[in-house]
Amino acid sequence: MNRVDGKVAIVTGAAGGIGSATARLLAKAGARVVATDMRPADGERLVAEIVRDGGQARYVDHDVTRDADWVRVVADTVAREGGLDILVNNAGIYRHGSIEDFRDEDIDALFAVNMKSIVLGTRQAFRAMKLRPKDADSASIVNLSSIAGLVGSPQSSVYSMSKGGVRLFTKAAAMEAAHLRYNIRCNSVHPGIIDTEMARGAENSVAGAMVKRGVPADDIAAMMAASHPLGRMGVAEDIARGILYLASNDSSFMTGSELVIDGGWTAR
Ligand SMILES: NC(=O)c1ccc[n+]([C@@H]2O[C@H](COP(=O)([O-])OP(=O)(O)OC[C@H]3O[C@@H](n4cnc5c(N)ncnc54)[C@H](O)[C@@H]3O)[C@@H](O)[C@H]2O)c1
Repeated sequence: MNRVDGKVAIVTGAAGGIGSATARLLAKAGARVVATDMRPADGERLVAEIVRDGGQARYVDHDVTRDADWVRVVADTVAREGGLDILVNNAGIYRHGSIEDFRDEDIDALFAVNMKSIVLGTRQAFRAMKLRPKDADSASIVNLSSIAGLVGSPQSSVYSMSKGGVRLFTKAAAMEAAHLRYNIRCNSVHPGIIDTEMARGAENSVAGAMVKRGVPADDIAAMMAASHPLGRMGVAEDIARGILYLASNDSSFMTGSELVIDGGWTAR
């Protein structure tokens, strides 16, 4: 179950919390992983760990907002690995702020990193994946959305907009690939608050936003845990396991779907 033996996977934002856990788990489940990010030291450290543990991975520098980078990364993957089976569009950023005070540069950054990147990546992935043998397992594109792509919350409007965009682009891409008989599935993943830099870091994080709203720093972890009906924050591995499922052939009848992994957050 949940094996991806011999498959070739690109994971973006792989130096970060969810991306690293996903790259590790896909490699453990048998994939050859191309781990991309803009943090070469952390990326190379991750790849060294994966290789030490018997997996196959390499790190590639990749700014997901740049089309030229996507063309290079996908072409290089196909040339060196013989094809592309799995793309995990994981790289993302968070910015908080009220609608009235939101800065233009933060709107542009959120749209570029969280949304435009998914279009650029899907474009290159479709071109490569549609060339796979017709009798192969379906290729899989997994896009990281969020609970913020399903429900609203204060101070997160533009992030929510970007993640809502990811959710619906995923469904549209799934329909287009199915219509064209490309044998490519596209699904989105919707994490609750996950214990990574994005949630708990000092800058541009969910915790940073809470501090600015006057929440005492010592109370933040407990509040984040209590905000999930299951009583804890998620960890990156909770999300990686869902991504592996969507990447593997065990989810072969799922496309255009939303996998919510949120400790019950959106069930209320
Ligand atoms: N942590 C959470 O609570 C949470 C909740 C819901 C959804 N998500 C989503 O999950 C994904 C991963 O989040 P995370 O918590 O691991 O974040 P993280 O901040 O730990 O990691 C994000 C990674 O993306 C990389 N990145 C940022 N901009 C990039 C760019 N232009 N090109 C290439 N790489 C870039 C960063 O260098 C970093 O390594 C994001 O899309 C995020 O929106 C996270």
